[in-house]
Amino acid sequence: MNIDTEHLHYWMMAIRNSSDPMRTMDAFYRGQIKSKEWLVHRLEHWIKEPAEIEIYGGWVGVLASLLFQSRVPIKKITSIDIDKECEATALMMNKQEEIEGRFSAVTADMCTYNSTADVAINTSCEHLTQQQYDQWLSQLPKDCLVVLQSNNYDIPEHVRWHKSFDEFKDTCGIHFLWGGELQTQLYTRYMIIGRK
Ligand SMILES: C[S@@+](CC[C@H](N)C(=O)[O-])C[C@H]1O[C@@H](n2cnc3c(N)ncnc32)[C@H](O)[C@@H]1O
Repeated sequence: MNIDTEHLHYWMMAIRNSSDPMRTMDAFYRGQIKSKEWLVHRLEHWIKEPAEIEIYGGWVGVLASLLFQSRVPIKKITSIDIDKECEATALMMNKQEEIEGRFSAVTADMCTYNSTADVAINTSCEHLTQQQYDQWLSQLPKDCLVVLQSNNYDIPEHVRWHKSFDEFKDTCGIHFLWGGELQTQLYTRYMIIGRK
């Protein structure tokens, strides 16, 4: 996908102004970016009308920025993360759209958030226990499109990684529409698209 120089400028501003630039740059590892590019290309097939999108575990806002630069029709994106350091960085990463009223970043626990999404994206499933995941899912509006990513990467902060795509699918609790795997250098990323 193409990244335009205006967005690139805000990416650099966001990294430069963040409290821990090296940590912010973790969001730009090849596997992270490739996984998000894969998601964006898939969503271009699934979203046909301008949508209200919520990104859970939205981190520093890179996925939102990639979506804004794609062909996905977007009414508004809200990025929700429990880490208060993420909010200002995500806002700078998506400054142009924030000024236009099309982007906001919220510091909140996704499990207790009150969703109004047409499309709910959670690429941080490996960071949630099954109980947290089920609680998060229960607050989403019925019939909303749900986009999930997880992986098989066994590191301490991944409290619920999966040995296989089928294991991930069995725990996701949504009406399955599409699923796939992406091999990255360090792990396999799984993606599922479905309806609540
Ligand atoms: C390492 S990051 C993102 C990892 C994922 N592979 C991705 O690229 O989206 C995981 C994020 O989930 C957030 N997070 C974890 N638990 C959360 C919760 N209960 N509510 C909201 N955000 C949460 C963390 O603060 C962190 O920013």
